[in-house]
Amino acid sequence: MIRKILQKRSAVEHTCDPRAGKVEETHLKQINKISCEVEQWNSDDPIPSKDLEQGVAGAYGLLCRLSDRVDKKLLDAAGANLRVISTLSVGVDHLALDEIKKRGIRVGYTPGVLTDATAELAVSLLLTTCRRLPEAIEEVKNGGWSSWSPLWMCGYGLSESTVGIVGLGRIGQAIARRLKPFGVQRFLYTGRQPRPQEAAEFQAEFVPIAQLAAESDFIVVSCSLTPATRGLCNKDFFQKMKNTAVFINISRGDVVNQEDLYQALASGQIAAAGLDVTTPEPLPPSHPLLTLKNCVILPHIGSATYKTRNTMSLLAANNLLAGLRGEPMPSELKL
Ligand SMILES: NC(=O)c1ccc[n+]([C@@H]2O[C@H](COP(=O)([O-])OP(=O)(O)OC[C@H]3O[C@@H](n4cnc5c(N)ncnc54)[C@H](OP(=O)(O)O)[C@@H]3O)[C@@H](O)[C@H]2O)c1
Repeated sequence: MIRKILQKRSAVEHTCDPRAGKVEETHLKQINKISCEVEQWNSDDPIPSKDLEQGVAGAYGLLCRLSDRVDKKLLDAAGANLRVISTLSVGVDHLALDEIKKRGIRVGYTPGVLTDATAELAVSLLLTTCRRLPEAIEEVKNGGWSSWSPLWMCGYGLSESTVGIVGLGRIGQAIARRLKPFGVQRFLYTGRQPRPQEAAEFQAEFVPIAQLAAESDFIVVSCSLTPATRGLCNKDFFQKMKNTAVFINISRGDVVNQEDLYQALASGQIAAAGLDVTTPEPLPPSHPLLTLKNCVILPHIGSATYKTRNTMSLLAANNLLAGLRGEPMPSELKL
């Protein structure tokens, strides 16, 4: 939180907690240079909403993570000084954008710099899920590996397959680009409107979501979470999928109705699912999805490479500083 904008060099109210690591230090160094008073939450754990409400009161800027819900209550708590919100994410579903716009607050985010890392993770998750790697590793460890057997641990391969991408945006395209060399025969995609220029690289066909569900061997969800995409992958969607199809979600947990997904996986309606995002996060260890062998769940690590997180941090800090100076931000969200 930027407490005050100073004339001279900055005063940092709370110095960096060594546990917070390089990413947080980077924020501080950058913010230091433009003479602000900075107040920092000194923990890797998310700040409790009460502490955030108290801490943000009177602040000019807020640098937040995707786990910080910036809603009307928080904006009221911040008060009239708040002029910039910079989020360390490309997703902005945690921000009450209508309220923010109404108050004339500018928003910075981190598109592009995490695209490659997230696409890499999506492909890793897809291969891990369709070739049943966690199950296979477990069998080696627990003595279930007895002999080579023709159908044991068989899964599904990408060669000659049809891949459906829900949201052919930056990350969706980067995923398709990486999957194409595996021998994918056909790409389908869906979204609010066709994107012929982007789709040309993969000869991807724009289709209604029902057709994408019915014809794809692999479905990768890479859209943003909006009111229109919330619960998009529900019972109806899974019922249209092939029994042999694999479902991957790297978008946001709320795009999927998890109870419907559980039923689809448990009943054999679909073959398997790989999720990097869930609702809630963290997913409780007792969650029914974690009892299923055909469901692979990762703890929201799409952009988690050292380089990407450092680049995101720098961009988020520079967005904040530019916003405070009233200059164009390196990555400003158009509201
Ligand atoms: N797992 C992770 O760690 C991780 C990391 C980074 C990002 N993400 C998630 O990935 C999302 C996409 O990031 P990006 O950089 O690729 O953003 P982007 O370039 O803005 O792409 C967003 C995509 O969502 C699609 N979309 C929007 N409304 C839709 C709808 N109603 N139906 C279907 N598709 C719809 C858009 O398609 P049209 O514009 O054609 O409608 C677009 O293709 C982020 O919003 C974030 O939630 C996750």
